[in-house]
Amino acid sequence: MMEDYLTPAIEIVREAGTLLSELSNRPHEISYKRPLDLVTEADRRSEALITERLRRQFPSHRIVAEEGGSHQSGSDYCWYVDPLDGTTNFAHGFPVFCVSIGLALRNEPVCGVIYDPTRQDLYTAERGGGSFCNGVRMSVSGIESLSESLLATGFPPTSREHELNLRFFFRFTHISHGVRRAGSAALDLCSVALGRFEGFWELMLNPWDKAAGVLMVMEAGGQITNLSGEPFKLLEAPIVASNGLVHEAMVQIFSEVLAEKV
Ligand code: IPD
Ligand code: CA
Ligand code: CA
Repeated sequence: MMEDYLTPAIEIVREAGTLLSELSNRPHEISYKRPLDLVTEADRRSEALITERLRRQFPSHRIVAEEGGSHQSGSDYCWYVDPLDGTTNFAHGFPVFCVSIGLALRNEPVCGVIYDPTRQDLYTAERGGGSFCNGVRMSVSGIESLSESLLATGFPPTSREHELNLRFFFRFTHISHGVRRAGSAALDLCSVALGRFEGFWELMLNPWDKAAGVLMVMEAGGQITNLSGEPFKLLEAPIVASNGLVHEAMVQIFSEVLAEKV
């Protein structure tokens, strides 16, 4: 039987989320990793807390954490840590952000926890064991057409001058109920798992943005691939997540837009 990774991971995300809540009421110290790529004191403090707890609890496991608090070992188990997903929102006081940690075994997600401290929503998933929001099982939506779908996407915190995703955004906006850009990929994936969004895509996600979220979607009966519809790989940047029913239609739009002359 698989060891219980979920219980300690839940404690850790709750603790880190509570810290983010406390810090969200104070003025933020913002610095830039690159132009447009913000980092706050809260990202660093949340990461320090999470990595310290994970190292204590799972000393042999690897850790890959966004702000550099990684830990190498020869283990096949790796924790992908996003200490604050939605940093730009957090820095502006827009209350859409979360803590996301996912455990992968040889790059296959096996356990994920995401905590949204603003709404006090806890998302959990274990491979083969379903995914849950506050203990209630999640299930993707039954909508079958893009014309009745609500979709979501995001843009990387790098220069967006030649952003291909704006072309996808444009096309999907015309043929669906709309495309949301809420600013937290982990919470976007939870919304697909909950059936709020029929689909989500992004071109440049890091493994810590999605390690937990993809498992939420898979375990809620959804589908995850790359833009061409090929099987999901954690270390590959582009991702398409959906309820499965609109997946082929989404992949078709990507290929049509890519074939357009600009
Ligand atoms: C970002 C958010 C955003 C997504 C970006 C991510 P961060 O993560 O998930 O929604 O569009 O690609 O980098 O920087 O807030 O942890
Ligand atoms: Ca992130
Ligand atoms: Ca982050």
